Amino acid sequence: MRVQVAIIGAGPAGLLLGERLGHAGIDAIILERQSPDYVLGRIRAGVLESGTIDQLRELGLGARVDAAGLRHGGIELCFDGGRHRIDLAGLTGGKHVTVYGQTEVTRDLMAARAAAGRTTVYNAEAVTPLDFDGEKPRVAYRLKGAEQTIRADFIVGADGHHGAARAALPGGAIAAFERVYPYSWLGLLADVPPVSDELIYVRHPRGFALCSMRSPTRSRYYLQAPADARADAWTPDSFFDELARRLDPEAAARLIRGPALEMSVAPLRCFVAEPLRFGRLFLAGDAGHIVPPTGAKGLNLAASDAFYLAEAIQDFYDEKSTAGIDAYSARALARVWGAVRFSAQMTALTHQTPGDGGFDDRLQMANLRALVRSETEARGLAENYVGLPY
Ligand code: APR
Ligand code: PHB
Repeated sequence: MRVQVAIIGAGPAGLLLGERLGHAGIDAIILERQSPDYVLGRIRAGVLESGTIDQLRELGLGARVDAAGLRHGGIELCFDGGRHRIDLAGLTGGKHVTVYGQTEVTRDLMAARAAAGRTTVYNAEAVTPLDFDGEKPRVAYRLKGAEQTIRADFIVGADGHHGAARAALPGGAIAAFERVYPYSWLGLLADVPPVSDELIYVRHPRGFALCSMRSPTRSRYYLQAPADARADAWTPDSFFDELARRLDPEAAARLIRGPALEMSVAPLRCFVAEPLRFGRLFLAGDAGHIVPPTGAKGLNLAASDAFYLAEAIQDFYDEKSTAGIDAYSARALARVWGAVRFSAQMTALTHQTPGDGGFDDRLQMANLRALVRSETEARGLAENYVGLPY
């Protein structure tokens, strides 16, 4: 079999890229290790920048997100027993973010792909990119016990942080820049109305907390937990008790509890691979970079990578020019590092570092007070939160 582009991974990065290429008349196949149900069962991010929404609309996929997505023109910072609103829209000339689960984005993209008759191979085992240092790359994989090969002009690793694409690169081909945080996030999803209409980012001496949502009847909450925390050591009750302790009294009193649909622990880390290209293999999304979730940027970076890479590949076929694909890594990485900066700042602003002697603590409080006092300070946060321009 021969295609123009072989994409590894049917997460948001791979699906968005596949859809953009399909709309440009470029033939792309997606190879995914998991089943469609497994992909749709993963609970992931939930805050979409307007650039991400614009991409869905351009692809004709705006209807569901426009109907069910929740427009947010502000977030709240909670510290010292009180909440303080950051007016995202007011500080950015009317921009906002949309709360719409990654699961829903994935569902919309999968449905569009199926409707257009584009091929996704699910349950593909041992997916291996080959010969991408020359002009005739291939991807080998196994399906139901049979060995298969696809020839392609380009291979895209959109297969997440633990994927096969980055792992296939020769040693020394890319540099990795990494920061591992000494804590994790314990997440809980529950069918209860959110404690507030807007997201609340909590800085508390007991640790960070975040109140988010998926809909007016489904809440998504997080607690900073030790790096080695285990979800099975917690119950929904102990989770809600701890969340209430970290919230201001008024929000704590409004918190509605309920059974957990899901509880899980995610480590916090930052990772950037450079460059995002080796020969005819490109990395996109989590395969190339991870940011701590405090900035709500992971999914949006997968979307901007897909945008840049689709444009680059389109240029290659339409203009017979390699300028786009040569520039992809630098273009994407510039935006990635902007998000790394913001995500690291938001993390440092709100998380407790074990063993900190009190200096960081006081610095956090000074930074938070500055954000609340000064429009200039708050504007920086707002501009980054709603999303830097493409
Ligand atoms: N072969 C084939 N597919 C693979 C392989 C492999 N060896 N390894 C991983 N995959 C698949 C995974 O099963 C997953 O469906 O690649 C896909 C990668 O999707 P995501 O992890 O969702 O990554 P990405 O598309 O880059 O989206 C980034 O996901 O983790 C969140 O917060 C992150 O919101 C961000 C978004
Ligand atoms: C989420 O709703 O899952 C979420 C929201 C904001 C974040 C991180 C995660 O910063």
